[in-house]
Amino acid sequence: MRASPTPAPTADQATKDAMSSPSTASPAESASTASTVITNIAALVTNDPSLGDDSPVGLIRDAAVVIEGDRVVWTGETSKAPATDNRVEADGRAVLPGFVDSHSHLLFAGDRTEEFNARMSGRSYSAGGIRTTVAATRAASDTDLERTLVRHLAEALRQGTTTMETKSGYGLSAEDEARALRLAARHTDEVTYLGAHVVPPEYADDPAAYVELVTGPMLDACAPYARWIDVFCEEGAFDGDQARAVLSAGREKGLHPRVHANQLSYGPGVRLAVELDAASADHCTHLTDADVDALANSRTVATLLPGAEFSTRAAWPDARRLLDAGVTVALSTDCNPGSSFTSSVPFCVALAVRDMGMTPDEAVWSATAGGAAALRRTDIGRIVPGAYADLVLLDAPSHVHLAYRPGVPLVSAVWRRGVRVV
Ligand code: NIG
Ligand code: FE
Repeated sequence: MRASPTPAPTADQATKDAMSSPSTASPAESASTASTVITNIAALVTNDPSLGDDSPVGLIRDAAVVIEGDRVVWTGETSKAPATDNRVEADGRAVLPGFVDSHSHLLFAGDRTEEFNARMSGRSYSAGGIRTTVAATRAASDTDLERTLVRHLAEALRQGTTTMETKSGYGLSAEDEARALRLAARHTDEVTYLGAHVVPPEYADDPAAYVELVTGPMLDACAPYARWIDVFCEEGAFDGDQARAVLSAGREKGLHPRVHANQLSYGPGVRLAVELDAASADHCTHLTDADVDALANSRTVATLLPGAEFSTRAAWPDARRLLDAGVTVALSTDCNPGSSFTSSVPFCVALAVRDMGMTPDEAVWSATAGGAAALRRTDIGRIVPGAYADLVLLDAPSHVHLAYRPGVPLVSAVWRRGVRVV
């Protein structure tokens, strides 16, 4: 029933341009200026309570969405939809915003199947495994690194992710970190410098010298390609003082902080994130009441990454506690070859509902509008007039099916910037 005057891009084109910015999009991804209505949507998640029911997901039933160019221009009931050039029949299925995955590590090479296997036989996870990936990443060609990145962006897009942040952190030399970020910046606007992931082996005896590198020449080489600066604040990685030095140096270069905080143990990461107005404190698995209070009284989003707890057999972060305290919660994959090798936001939604105390509405909000908040964006994560037309059509009558039907590939179409890419 689709009646678009321009053919959909080929799978290769969609893959190549998977997450590129509008300013750098190829002609294949340029949205047509013709208007298109998606009609007979059984349940439309807008994430704007003023447009739909009073729930946080702003649900409209029997709904329609109108897209023009790369933007949403109208939402409402199907019976009131304006005339458009083209029409897509949703046929009683659900539409929600494209997922905003605000935390991934896709610039890597190598494989850690054996480490996962050992963990599932009882060995515990530690930050040290990162060094295995560092060795493989340093040895990889640019072409191989970029191919791996593009493959995972495309894999995520097929599962409904229309915005994906990604980080360096497996290079850990000025040259290798800058290379990773340069490649990342070709494919997404949301690029994070994570030179402070762990101390690499050649600096094992002098971590202070490594912090000087991260805050000096490495930062200079990386800052032109990144929007964000991150640090793994954890035992075995960087302590609170080192993390503060890294984030402060990044801020002086115009990068905005986000923090890997309180993943494996209690520690200063979350409070440091709040103190520095980080956009997000990520993981938040081990939190004191003071940590929760600090988040609740800040603009810092708590980004929960249940794929990591799943793949390391760790205790779940307590989303209910955070939500009840008034904290803004995002849900992301943390896709990386060590602690969470999944690119599936629907899988994370199902885990969050089943094991972390979230309702389906809350989990879907966190994986869309929550991810946007963690990236300080208001142009994505919502289906409202003026927002980018990043939409997911599910082969299900409700967004609740994302948790109700775990592991089932429900994403049946994806629009990114107004173009149907899946
Ligand atoms: O977010 N916590 C630090 N970094 C990643 C793990 C990376 C790895 O194990 O390779 C994470 O879980
Ligand atoms: Fe991470």
